Amino acid sequence: MVASSARQNKNENETGPHMDRISIVGGRRLRGTIPISGAKNATLPLMIASLLTADRLTLKNVPNLADVNMLARILRNHGVDLTIDGKRADPSPHLGETFHLSARDIVDTAAPYELVSRMRASFWVLGPLVARCGVARVSMPGGCAIGTRPVDLHLMGLKALGAEIDIDGGYVVAKAPKGLKGTRVVFPKVSVGATHAILMASTLAKGETVIENAAREPEIGDVAECLIKMGAKIEGVGTSTLRIAGTGRLEGAVHTVLPDRIETGTYAFAVAAAGGDVELKGARRALLETAFDALERTGVGIADTPAGVRVTRNGGPLEPITIETQPYPGFPTDLQAQLMALMTKAKGTSVIRETIFENRFMHVQELARLGADIQLQGDTATVKGVKTLRGAQVMATDLRASVSLVIAGLMAEGQTTINRVYHLDRGFERLEQKLSRCGAEIERLVSG
Ligand code: UD1
Repeated sequence: MVASSARQNKNENETGPHMDRISIVGGRRLRGTIPISGAKNATLPLMIASLLTADRLTLKNVPNLADVNMLARILRNHGVDLTIDGKRADPSPHLGETFHLSARDIVDTAAPYELVSRMRASFWVLGPLVARCGVARVSMPGGCAIGTRPVDLHLMGLKALGAEIDIDGGYVVAKAPKGLKGTRVVFPKVSVGATHAILMASTLAKGETVIENAAREPEIGDVAECLIKMGAKIEGVGTSTLRIAGTGRLEGAVHTVLPDRIETGTYAFAVAAAGGDVELKGARRALLETAFDALERTGVGIADTPAGVRVTRNGGPLEPITIETQPYPGFPTDLQAQLMALMTKAKGTSVIRETIFENRFMHVQELARLGADIQLQGDTATVKGVKTLRGAQVMATDLRASVSLVIAGLMAEGQTTINRVYHLDRGFERLEQKLSRCGAEIERLVSG
């Protein structure tokens, strides 16, 4: 076991807001295997689920990411004891890490601004804390600067479950001294985070909760499966109606995080961009049918293999595409920037509409620095394919936008340097290693 404090110090040094850059020389084809890590967007709520029980929750296949380490700090602050199984001697073959989380005593039900403002998903501790302790005080969230991203649906759901909610000095204060009560929660809009939060909170409520218009993202299914192992009674997993029969108490469990479909899609787009033949090991096609279908329409080869999914592109032209982002099972907003980067060199004009977040186009001006021809009108980007992109200095602005610049860099002539790559470290594990092992000319330029 590695003591949690040692891990914390190490990761503060590794993932603080330093100014590393990534340099890419475009034009190399990719060949080989890329291992797919555990899903960030499942790991975060699964770690938060540890707050629901006094017993030990063991999570396997946890990716080593800045967001995961930030949440570990927040949970530790609440009193969660976190240990991590011994490090591998050779960190190259990616196996994921095993976390043991134990929230036997919750020593603090407050989540401070300094921590929550750095990662939006940490706000999700509110529901489990008030469900278990009857009170919680959590700072309003921060995270990627992609639109206003309110939390009204979270608060609506908790109020429906009987919590009293106040806003005090930038904090949400939730109280339910006699516990939460099961009820019917009908979300007016699909929200991944609000679905996670109300699903988790309702497992400890008295009586039955029905969540309607629930998000159906596979990560919600993964969390539900884990909660079921912990003793929760949940029906409708994978559908938009979840029925939870509240139980007073949950137990410990062992759960393996599902593969990251956004990382999978990102590398599939990278192979499409650079050309070549790569197996995405551990990937599951069923988790992102819409994105793979879109890639096939552009002319990229996708095939299942016993170990994952194989992506091939052998120099043929890329067909343009018209697509809009939608909640699962639609095309994911988290792959919109990557698709746009790819389409900058398609043989024609693509139309990409973003329906989930109003401000998720910050990559557009950076792609333009490489020579992309993109017109923005409201929620729609019109991308005219160009013959050549040329390397330039660009700036990473948020998690998914940053990786779209990597994809564009792989296609561009000459050198692209991406500044502020700490955004990438929030969500992509060993990105430069995974790509360079397949032949990409990519390296991290460490600052200072
Ligand atoms: C999660 C994902 C993120 C992904 C997003 C949409 C994690 C850790 N993050 O974010 O990667 O891009 O889903 O697939 O899983 N909204 C409200 N009120 C609320 C909550 C949300 O209006 O209380 C709006 C948001 O502003 C947005 C839409 O609902 O327009 C969807 O947001 P949501 O699904 O909640 O995104 P997150 O859970 O934050």
